[in-house]
Amino acid sequence: MARRRLIYEGKAKILYEGPEPDTLIQYFKDDATAFNAEKKATIDGKGVLNNRLSEHFMTGLNSIGVPTHFIKRLNMREQLIRSVEMIPLEVIVRNFAAGTLSKRLGLPEGQQMPRPIIEFCYKDDSLGDPLVTEEHIAAFGWASQQDLDDMIALSLRVNDFLSGMFLGVGIRLVDFKIEIGRVIEGDFQRLVIADEISPDSCRLWDIETGRKLDKDVFRQDLGDLGDAYTEVAKRLGVMPRTNGKPAAGPKLVN
Ligand code: CDP
Repeated sequence: MARRRLIYEGKAKILYEGPEPDTLIQYFKDDATAFNAEKKATIDGKGVLNNRLSEHFMTGLNSIGVPTHFIKRLNMREQLIRSVEMIPLEVIVRNFAAGTLSKRLGLPEGQQMPRPIIEFCYKDDSLGDPLVTEEHIAAFGWASQQDLDDMIALSLRVNDFLSGMFLGVGIRLVDFKIEIGRVIEGDFQRLVIADEISPDSCRLWDIETGRKLDKDVFRQDLGDLGDAYTEVAKRLGVMPRTNGKPAAGPKLVN
């Protein structure tokens, strides 16, 4: 079998050339990084869980008409995705204060926002993904005004969908980050949700206990990250209700 062509290797994922034109294979690693990769670890089974969770969210979004790059899951760690032209921005949606917003504005963690707040960060690790304004985005040509409007509308739909899904299983969606790409279809371009949606890029708090079920467990040394992600997957019915940790074997696949 021919060796696959590696397209890109990031902190938590690898992209390989896909089987058809305009497709890629997205491989989920077990690596966890925080604070712009200053803190690193390998968390057994994280990639398997994030592959399943991202599949779950993206499939749900596709089914309500929010387009995503997701085509299908291929195996425990890989999914087939559409190749897109990435917009070099991270879109952060916040429902409750936490993280850098709390620090920047002195807001107590957990304070509800008057309405969902959207922020844009410029994707550049060497700069630490700085917060940027719509003025920067337009002036530097990272996205057009139409793209920006579409990105905001898409992000709010993702927020409503995910917030409802998590609320149903007793989890508060505090905030999350998504990345968006462009797909060209004939004379038209369409924006689609790309990258991943997983507890690596969301803040998820248990509604009753406040227990953190996201990457803050790793950032703040609050316990076992695998256990937290397994809890999220179990509640969403993405994994069978077993007490064990995510096993590396194929028995996790339904
Ligand atoms: O996570 P941190 O405190 O550094 O930054 P934030 O701006 O408070 O993050 C808001 C949300 O976006 C959190 O759910 C982060 O996990 C997520 N995020 C991310 O996934 N990747 C980044 N590079 C920055 C934030």
